[in-house]
Amino acid sequence: MAAKISLTRYLVEQQREEGHIQPQLRLLIEVVARACKRISQAVNKGALGGVLGGAETENIQGEMQKKLDIIANEVLIEANEWGGHLAAMASEEMDSIYLVPNRYPQGEYLLLFDPLDGSSNIDVNVSIGTIFSVLKKPDGDRGIEENDFLQTGVNQVAAGYCVYGPQTTLVLTVGDGVVMFTLDREQGSFVLTEEHVKIPADTKEFAINMSNMRHWAPPVKRYIDECLQGKEGVRGKDFNMRWVASMVADVHRILTRGGVFMYPWDKREPDKAGKLRLMYEANPMAWLVEQAGGAATDGTQRILDVPVTKLHQRVPVFLGSKNEVDRVTSYHTEL
Ligand code: AHG
Ligand code: MN
Ligand code: MN
Repeated sequence: MAAKISLTRYLVEQQREEGHIQPQLRLLIEVVARACKRISQAVNKGALGGVLGGAETENIQGEMQKKLDIIANEVLIEANEWGGHLAAMASEEMDSIYLVPNRYPQGEYLLLFDPLDGSSNIDVNVSIGTIFSVLKKPDGDRGIEENDFLQTGVNQVAAGYCVYGPQTTLVLTVGDGVVMFTLDREQGSFVLTEEHVKIPADTKEFAINMSNMRHWAPPVKRYIDECLQGKEGVRGKDFNMRWVASMVADVHRILTRGGVFMYPWDKREPDKAGKLRLMYEANPMAWLVEQAGGAATDGTQRILDVPVTKLHQRVPVFLGSKNEVDRVTSYHTEL
């Protein structure tokens, strides 16, 4: 039987043979994976660990925080601040950036994360996850500022997520395709379980929160109307719908068997570009999807090219199977 390849071995070999990963980046990914293991343990304990329910605080997005949002945020910070691989961190759950304290060495990288994605699913025992994105800090010795984080998605050097579902799975790209590791709880390590993740270009499955239909812009309405017409309509095939309300779980399904995921702008809050955040939700997911052969746009341009003006910027998201993303994107640009 072939030896199981752990995340550690995979990263060491990537560094040694392929030269894709610098030593500090390898350490960073290992540390994020370790933090995800701890979060996974807390998630698994649920009510037994006293981790369910609200924290009665609000984050900068104006969303009520859950206890696990805060726990996961603290686990990621504690795990990452002392290793010497990071200069600063940013999170959905922190108003501004977190500088690595002076007592620790400063590293070359910036880490952004959504510590707990799918918060509304925590208490109902449905899949949730952690999303992360890694950027290089600008050259020079000056201190890190929030502006240093405002880099377009194409600048990411690593991105991934960990989904806490029936299995705990870590999904990663460093720009050379997408790989998946499953947590082996007996061994306590992530084991490589999928090396060539590929999203089929065509699909019959879409994911969108249909309850917002009446608020959508015409291109999105047109696309979904056509899917709903099924075999008898212009698409000539029946579609299936899935909506987990955890982006990690919906994206994981798409990386596994294809599909298209949409969280569009809608007219309830016209000044808000969308619900999802660019830097620690859309950008890492867009890169993973592109690396698996799919596409990701905001309706008019590649998500990875969207200019960044602020840390908690929001963006409309269309991602997944290429032909479907191309179609819904073209509806936005057609007259
Ligand atoms: P978060 O829990 O980090 O705030 O993210 C939730 C996001 C995303 O994971 C999901 O796709 C979407 O919100 C669900 O939104 P609706 O509840 O509007 O369907
Ligand atoms: Mn999220
Ligand atoms: Mn979150």
